[in-house]
Amino acid sequence: MNALLYHPKGHPDKLVYGDAPAPVPADDEVLIRVHAVSLNAADYRSMKMGMIPKRRIFGADIAGRIESVGKNVSLFKPGDAVLVDLSNHGFGGLAEYAAAPENALALKPESVSFEDAAATPLAAMTALQAVRDQAGVQPGQRVLIAGSAGGVGTFAVQLAKYFGADVTGVCSPGNVAQTRSLGADHVIDYTREDFTKSAQRYDVILAVNGNYPLLACKKRLTPTGTYVMVGGALPQIFKALLFGRLLSFGSKKIKALSAKANPQDLAFVAHLLETGAIKPVITQRYPLEQAAEAMRYLMQGHAAGKVVVQVANTSHSEG
Ligand SMILES: NC(=O)c1ccc[n+]([C@@H]2O[C@H](COP(=O)([O-])OP(=O)(O)OC[C@H]3O[C@@H](n4cnc5c(N)ncnc54)[C@H](OP(=O)(O)O)[C@@H]3O)[C@@H](O)[C@H]2O)c1
Repeated sequence: MNALLYHPKGHPDKLVYGDAPAPVPADDEVLIRVHAVSLNAADYRSMKMGMIPKRRIFGADIAGRIESVGKNVSLFKPGDAVLVDLSNHGFGGLAEYAAAPENALALKPESVSFEDAAATPLAAMTALQAVRDQAGVQPGQRVLIAGSAGGVGTFAVQLAKYFGADVTGVCSPGNVAQTRSLGADHVIDYTREDFTKSAQRYDVILAVNGNYPLLACKKRLTPTGTYVMVGGALPQIFKALLFGRLLSFGSKKIKALSAKANPQDLAFVAHLLETGAIKPVITQRYPLEQAAEAMRYLMQGHAAGKVVVQVANTSHSEG
């Protein structure tokens, strides 16, 4: 099958389009004919840290049709359209076929396209676990999303609105209109205004992208507010991990998210896709042959939404 393969000597970025054996699903796995894959920071961050998948194929978020099932699989059958996040199952999505455990899958709603389904799992589940589980967002709360324009941020804005919050997004000028169109009540252009220096306070601050000082963010919380570090520049991540507990003494809470894919959350975001409560923003599409270029684009750090790689020709025509 065709795939994008990691190769230590591959030029210019160790990713080479080529031929690989199709995976053989284990007894509790299904073989999926991949229709679309979306890229995530997890792909290139794993590559930079030398965490190379066994089969040398990155790509976690896929949508496709089940081709065959292992002998212990009981919940799915050949022909089912599914979506899955393979980041905890060895990746392998940037290929014509991928194997996935049945307990990681969700059915793709018929009305949702393969591209939208592939653009959703990891980023939407991360945003869901930040907004609902870590921050416990309640109706009427003021929620600030620092980094509202990327894969996770665009879902975080929509999910915070879904849970009834008054949402402020922080992004560059080119993405202000996009953040507003996703439902944000207020948008801060970070080239003109530094939210950490304004008088406004927030019940919840989600640090998704950028590098905003932790203590300055804490000052912008209401007395019982919660800061959740989702990602961003490495200093932002490490400071929250190192000092979060220390700074959580008192009524303000500093948390660090470690998102975990699970079938309940995947089914929930698939349901929200079906109802139209959330909709992925797909900023760029690339064919599988150009997936290395897609990864380069994402690595620049300013993708406005999700980057999707189209694998099967049926991505558009089938549901
Ligand atoms: N904790 C977890 O379990 C978990 C899970 C998944 C992802 N993550 C992390 O979450 C982060 C976001 O992931 P992602 O997939 O959404 O990344 P992404 O799509 O690559 O994010 C790109 C976005 O970052 C925005 N951005 C860049 N610099 C910014 C700044 N200084 N202030 C505000 N926004 C800025 C850009 O918007 P502008 O062009 O408008 O600046 C762009 O839209 C990454 O660090 C990732 O590693 C963590």
